[in-house]
Amino acid sequence: MGQNHGRRTFLKTVSTGMLAAGLGAAGARVRAAPQPGKATPHSGTVIPATADFSLDIVEETASPFGMPITAILAGGQWPGTEIRYRKSDVFRVMVRNRLTEPTSIHWHGLIPPNLQDGVPGVTQAPIEPGELMLYQFPLVQAGTYWYHSHYELQEQQGLAGPLVIEDPAEARGYDHDVTLLLGDVYNGDPNTIIPGLRDGSIDFEADKPFVLPGESGFATDVPYAGYLLNGRSNTSPWKYAVRPRQRLRLRIINASASSFFRFAIPGLPLTVIASDGEDVEPVEVDNLMIGTAERYDLLVTIPESGNYPLHAAALGDNKWVEGLIHTHDAPAPPKFGPPRFEGRHLSFEQLRASDDSRFPKGPERSIDLRLSGNMAKYVWLMNDVAYPELFAPPDARNVPIEVGHGEVVRVTLTNPTPMYHPMHLHGHVFRVLGGDEERAPRKDTLSVPPRSTRAIEFYANNPGRWFFHCHNLYHMASGMAREVRYVNSPN
Ligand code: C2O
Ligand code: CU
Repeated sequence: MGQNHGRRTFLKTVSTGMLAAGLGAAGARVRAAPQPGKATPHSGTVIPATADFSLDIVEETASPFGMPITAILAGGQWPGTEIRYRKSDVFRVMVRNRLTEPTSIHWHGLIPPNLQDGVPGVTQAPIEPGELMLYQFPLVQAGTYWYHSHYELQEQQGLAGPLVIEDPAEARGYDHDVTLLLGDVYNGDPNTIIPGLRDGSIDFEADKPFVLPGESGFATDVPYAGYLLNGRSNTSPWKYAVRPRQRLRLRIINASASSFFRFAIPGLPLTVIASDGEDVEPVEVDNLMIGTAERYDLLVTIPESGNYPLHAAALGDNKWVEGLIHTHDAPAPPKFGPPRFEGRHLSFEQLRASDDSRFPKGPERSIDLRLSGNMAKYVWLMNDVAYPELFAPPDARNVPIEVGHGEVVRVTLTNPTPMYHPMHLHGHVFRVLGGDEERAPRKDTLSVPPRSTRAIEFYANNPGRWFFHCHNLYHMASGMAREVRYVNSPN
C-alpha cells in the first residue's frame, strides 16, 4: 500500500529532532488527565524519551528453499528481533529504514494511540529510505503479539517478528517461555503473485493436501516453496532442550502472509490458555488450527526423557514445517514423519474468556459486512467495494465505516466465498459472539470460515482511523479492507 494514498494529508515522519523537542529536557511529558466515561486507554500517561529496541530494516538475499530471494528483515534476521516488554511498560521502539524503498511497521494486536499504529496511508506517511521513526506509547495489555510491515507486500518478504508482553503477576508456573513463529516463503517476487492469479499463470492446488474430514482446504492461493518455524526449515529444524517434567509455555504466532497451520506435538496434550494475547479458560486438546495472524498460547508438560517432535502443516498444502523439543539426555532425534493429526481438535466454540468480557452499557450500533470477492478476477471486497490498495481494481473507493465514540459496535461478517478470511481490526480487542454471552472470547483476528457468518463486537473507546481488513495479504492487497473511523467526543 502507500502508493495509492499519496495525495492525502499525513503526519510527517517524526525525526529525532522533533521528538527531543516534543518531549522536553526532562524526557517525559504528562498528558491530559483521564476523563470519565469515554476516556481512551491512553489518558493521563507518562512517556519517556529513549528507545528500548531499534529495528534496522534491511534488504538481504536469502535462499531458505534453494532459490535466492530478496528478503526484507527487521534487525537483519528472520524472524525479526523479538520485542519483549512487561505489562505497564512504555513501548519505545525505533524503526530505521535502511532500504531503498519506504516501509512502515504495525504492532499487531496492540492498542496504541491511533497515530502509533503504523499503517501508511491511514495513520502515518511511510517511513522513507534513510529515515527513522520512534513509536512510543504506554502498553495497556499483556500477552502474545507480533509486528510486521504494513507497506505493500514486504510482509511476504519476511518483515515480521514476535512481540511479547509478560505479566509479572501471572501465576501459571512454567519453566520455559518459548516463542514459535510460523511463516511462509514464496520463491520469487511477491508482486508477481496477484497478476499471476489473475492471468491464470498461477493456479495452485496441492496434491493430497492436509485437510481434516469436513474441513475446507481453501486457505491460500499461493504456491509456497515451504514454511519456516523460527526461521528454520525442515532441512535444519528448530530444536529446544528441556528437562523431564518441565512445563513450557509455547507462544505460537502465525506470521505467515496467507497460510493457516494445524499444529500438534503428537503424544503431548496441549492446554490452550490464550488466544490473540487474551486469556481463555484453559482447554486441553491434541491439535489446533491457527489462522493467518492469530496467536495461541499453550502449556505443555514434558512427561519423561525423550524426543517430542512437533509440526505445523499448512492447510490446503501438502507441506509442513517441523521442530523438536527434547530432553538433554535424549538419544539422537527420531526420524520426523509426515504429520498426523489425531485426537481432539480445538473447536472455536470451546474458547471462553477467562472472565466476564462484556463491555460497559452504552449506545449500540450494528453493521453488516459481506466478505465478497471474485475468485476468477482475483478481486476481494467488503460489501462489494474494494479499498484502494496496491492491486485493487480501478473503481476502488475508500468508504469508511463511521461509528461513534463510546458505542458498542456489533459487526456481522458474512462470508459467501469458498475461502477463509482472517479478519483483523486494528487498535481494539473484539468479542466473538455466538456462544456464552458473558464469556465471549476476546480476539483481534477472527478466521471467518467459508460459507459462514460470525459476529463480533467492539467498544469504540480509542478514537482515530483504524484499519479493518482480511489478513490474507493477497486479499488485502486486492481490496478486502475498510477504515473504521470515529473522533474523540468528550462526552
Ligand atoms: Cu497484522 Cu493490518 O495487520
Ligand atoms: Cu480474505
